[in-house]
Order: sequence, then C-alpha cells, then structure tokens
Amino acid sequence: MNSIIDFLIERRSIRKFRSEPVKMELIKELIRVANYAPNSNNREPWKFIVITDDLIKRELSTLHKGASHIAEAPVGIAVVAEPDVSPETWMIDTANATLYFVLAAYSVGLGVGWIAAYENKKAKELLKIPQDKVLMTLLSLGYPDPTYQPRHKDVKRPEEVLFKDYWGSKML
Ligand SMILES: Cc1cc2nc3c(=O)[nH]c(=O)nc-3n(C[C@H](O)[C@H](O)[C@H](O)COP(=O)(O)O)c2cc1C
Repeated sequence: MNSIIDFLIERRSIRKFRSEPVKMELIKELIRVANYAPNSNNREPWKFIVITDDLIKRELSTLHKGASHIAEAPVGIAVVAEPDVSPETWMIDTANATLYFVLAAYSVGLGVGWIAAYENKKAKELLKIPQDKVLMTLLSLGYPDPTYQPRHKDVKRPEEVLFKDYWGSKML
C-alpha cells in the first residue's frame, strides 16, 4: 500500500541478537522519539530504564520461559509508567510511548523482543522501581541475529474484529 504500512506489517519480534553493542546516543534518540507519542494532556507519564549490566539482564532472563532472550541481548529496556503523573491515562499513554520506541528501533535496523513483566515483583526489586510506579514491560534490544527466524504468525481478518455502529452488529 505504502512503505509505512509495509514496515508496520513486516515488523516481527526478535529474540536473538548479534553481540554488537548499541550506542547510548542511539538509545537516547529512540527515547526522544518515544516522547513524541500521543498521550493525554502531553504529561508523558513514563520512564525508560536502560539496562546494560549483564548480571541484571541474566537475572531478568529467569523471570519466566519467554524472558530468556534478554540475557544475550546487548541492552534491556524497562518501560515504567507513572500513575501519579497521569492518574486516568497512564496505561495507554505508556503503551503508546513503548510502541513509538519499538517502531523507531526497527526503523534504524535494531530488533526488539518483548517480555511480559507487568508489575513483576522480582524485576521491580532488581531495578529499584518505586512501589507507586508501574513496570509495564521489559524489552530486549539489539541488532538482529540474521539466523533468527520469526515465529509463524496468523492475524485475524478485519471482519473478525469489526462491528458496525454498535457492539455485536456484524458488517455484511
Ligand atoms: C505485552 C506483551 C508481552 C509479551 N511478552 C512476551 C514474552 O514474555 N516473551 C516473548 O518472547 N514475547 C513476548 N511478546 C511478543 C509477542 O509474543 C508477539 O508480539 C506476538 O506473538 C506477535 O508477534 P510479532 O511481534 O512477531 O508480530 C509480548 C508482546 C507484548 C505486546
């Protein structure tokens, strides 16, 4: 359709990385982009923790089976939301910022793996995240290993997720 739509459709989660480090200046640039994400009243209720310490990444990789990729990723990112900054919209605001970060990373040739770590107690302690802040997700970040094959993926057709005018009405 157009190159941005192709880019959005072709993006896949990456779970294996080259060892090449990611420059901090580049990570800062991705965070700069994330701060442009749409968010209520432009309060930007989020923080990013950039994790390069191998011991911390290794600990995080043991959270659950799907977290293992962070051990070998050159960088881990913890995305933290601040409900005190935007009490009603922190969750969607921070999700938007996360996706802006992720898409910006792909646009410069990096890959991202996600880790479900919502409010994970061990991760919050390791990363010294205050109790009143919310750990939204962990990301593995790095240059993709060219041998990594993304998992098979099917997506729903629009008709499967679309109602017309009100909930439950099928579009003919
Ligand atoms: C909130 C969230 C949590 C996820 N948790 C994990 C995870 O713990 N481990 C993992 O390998 N992938 C995880 N993923 C990645 C999804 O499995 C992946 O996005 C989905 O299967 C679609 O594949 P794609 O990203 O390659 O298009 C997560 C994604 C999201 C958005």
